[in-house]
Amino acid sequence: MTKRLVVGNWKMNGVTASLGEIAGMDALAGVDLWVAPPFTLVGGAVAVARDGVRIGGQDCHHAVSGAHTGCISAAMLADLGAAFVIVGHSERRSDQGETDAEVRAKVLAARAAGLDVIVCVGESEAQRDAGTAEAVVDGQLGGSLPGTADGLVIAYEPVWAIGTGRTPSSAEVSAMHSFIRTRLLALFGAAGQGIAILYGGSVKPDNAAVLLGQADVGGALVGGASLTAASFLAIAAAANPSPG
Ligand code: 13P
Repeated sequence: MTKRLVVGNWKMNGVTASLGEIAGMDALAGVDLWVAPPFTLVGGAVAVARDGVRIGGQDCHHAVSGAHTGCISAAMLADLGAAFVIVGHSERRSDQGETDAEVRAKVLAARAAGLDVIVCVGESEAQRDAGTAEAVVDGQLGGSLPGTADGLVIAYEPVWAIGTGRTPSSAEVSAMHSFIRTRLLALFGAAGQGIAILYGGSVKPDNAAVLLGQADVGGALVGGASLTAASFLAIAAAANPSPG
């Protein structure tokens, strides 16, 4: 089995004292651990992270530098030692009104800076209820992804499952991940097979094994349960395809 990838997205949480949690995260055989703290902690996290734990950003601007007050470029993240960046998270799509075209520009900037990039997609509850979940995700993939598969990871995060304690059924997860895989193969040919597709939305230690056991689920993007080393590592352990 290929290695699983478990990524923590700390969102707007964490101060200097929280770096102890990152220092306490230890890589497991069979599972890659990536953590995206807020920008303010990226440099500190790089300094304390153990071997095998990669640190990244939660967003980047599409430009390398310039008059964009308050923004951070992919090159700045790379300069701090970040290895990856998350783009297109649904909270940014809704809070900052980010479009697929902007997300795609960020993906290109991240790749140009040498960062791996996690592109988030996912439907709202109304869209799922209306039966358009696959069409929405298809549109996001088509509009957000670059021309090559290098360095890409996809995170499927149904908006209604984020921070709610609700998750899709196993059948819904495997159906959407299979759909995404089909689209990746159509977009990238054989290279689409190598792109990890993470599930995100209320992943916890007690549901991780089931969610990550579904076909085409390559790992998890974890919000709240990534804030402590204990719960994040419990999810990683549940995700491990080859314990011991
Ligand atoms: P929760 O795990 O807190 O539901 O957040 C998921 C998420 O949005 C990760 O990017």
